[in-house]
Amino acid sequence: KALAGPSPAEAPSGEQQPVHVGGWVQTVRRMKRDLFLELSDGSTAKGIQVILPRDSVAFSQLLDQAAALGVADMSDTSADGLATGVSLEVRGRLTPSPGKNQTFELLADGVNILGLARSTFPLQKKFHRPEFLRDISHLRPKTRNFGSVLRVRDASSKSMHHILDNLGFVHIHTPILTTNDCEGAGETFEVKGPIFDGDGASTTATSPDGQQHYFGSPSYLTVSGQLQLEAAACGLSRVYTFGPTFRAENSHTSRHLSEFWMLEAEVAFIRSIQDIVGLTSTLFRSNIAAILSRCPEDLEHLEKNSPGLGERLAGFVGSGPPDGPNPFPVITYTEAIDILEREARGATSFLVGHAGSDAEGATHTAPALPPLAWGDNLSSDHERFLCERVFAGQPVYVVDYPQALKPFYMRQNDHADPARPTVAAMDMLVPGVGELIGGSVREERLDRLEQAIAGAGLCPEAYAWYTDLRRYGTVPHGGFGIGFERLIMVLTGMTNIRDAIPFPRYPGRCQL
Ligand code: 4AD
Ligand code: MG
Repeated sequence: KALAGPSPAEAPSGEQQPVHVGGWVQTVRRMKRDLFLELSDGSTAKGIQVILPRDSVAFSQLLDQAAALGVADMSDTSADGLATGVSLEVRGRLTPSPGKNQTFELLADGVNILGLARSTFPLQKKFHRPEFLRDISHLRPKTRNFGSVLRVRDASSKSMHHILDNLGFVHIHTPILTTNDCEGAGETFEVKGPIFDGDGASTTATSPDGQQHYFGSPSYLTVSGQLQLEAAACGLSRVYTFGPTFRAENSHTSRHLSEFWMLEAEVAFIRSIQDIVGLTSTLFRSNIAAILSRCPEDLEHLEKNSPGLGERLAGFVGSGPPDGPNPFPVITYTEAIDILEREARGATSFLVGHAGSDAEGATHTAPALPPLAWGDNLSSDHERFLCERVFAGQPVYVVDYPQALKPFYMRQNDHADPARPTVAAMDMLVPGVGELIGGSVREERLDRLEQAIAGAGLCPEAYAWYTDLRRYGTVPHGGFGIGFERLIMVLTGMTNIRDAIPFPRYPGRCQL
């Protein structure tokens, strides 16, 4: 992006447009007559080629400045010290480029070195392993690959707001500090505030357990904004929240973070899980369509590490309008167990002993699926097997899970076998990731909800405000949550969730 002057897109071809740009040097090529710098300011996937003819004023300026900065050996033949990572401002003229990789290049009239990159600079123009880059997450935004991930993440986030706005949703800012554990999994980070021993307004309240807490009872970082969102939906009908959520899970996997962003929506006056399926399918496909049209250069770049990315994404959008009917398969949990159980017994031909090839192209035999029975949780292997193998690389919805596997707030299915109670829940499973979206119809019947709260061993007083929503004008309603980093994995082809968020937090790491 030009600091001054027209953007390259505006420059009429054939003319030399004066511009002023700033950026970081990606590569340096020293030719006999010219010095070529590839400069990037991170605003797009591609940088710009800057040309400094060795007989130009700009080139002499560069040498003088380098000398003044103490780079002794930046001579006419070897411009050492001018390397990857140096920050520069360049004034020059945009000219049509004869090269095939770019439309324009910048012929420098003047250069200003802003900062040298010391010899310890760890980034070079070569492939760096993701683990290595994670350890230098403060420098990671300078890499081309991660720049693309961050721009796609930004575009996806903006598009989500846009899509939901068009669907008539109101954005609600739900709290980070809360006293409830929405998912009931006990994976909360407790927040400790100071204890004041003064009097009057500054006295810290004493909770029923006799302990003093800043808020009068133990408080946590939110695991989900859903319960507050339900309160908002019971007044505004269509609402969503989009923010950080926190889980103190002991999960060292490629799809779990301790702090992740979740987009949650809640809709009043819907009755069936199919409504939630339809809404999430629209959101998923519309968001991908937006990325395909807004980020072609980033996708092209990301494709180098994730062959077939663009085609895969276009396949998810499909040929129909993104807001049309859901095109993805929907199966019940019971059907999923049936398939997986037969597979684990080797009764079908999908996986057992199948030959596949890994990222390096080596052939291997996949281990058999772990056995499971009705009532068991699906592992990520099971989830990925369903969408990657059974449904040939498509996202799959699994609905109607056993009640015992899901949180207290989900609506009991009236049609379920009483010996096997199920709830109106759905998970959307996607290739490469597993569960991307979780949602449900909520229990809107007061008596059933009170039973569920008691059954889950929760304190009814703590949820009195939540049951009030059923006491005062209850309505059928439901909603869902999308793990935003898992979506970014789908959109960018990143295979580890730690590479889908700017500054990842996971067990053992909260630096920076
Ligand atoms: O399935 P979950 O736990 O559902 C809820 O929290 C509901 N209250 C959402 C709702 O209905 N409003 O989480 C929703 C999604 C998952 O499908 C997954 O994509 C993501 O959040 N997720 C995680 N992402 C990264 N790291 C973790 N530790 C995650 N845990 C869940
Ligand atoms: Mg879930």
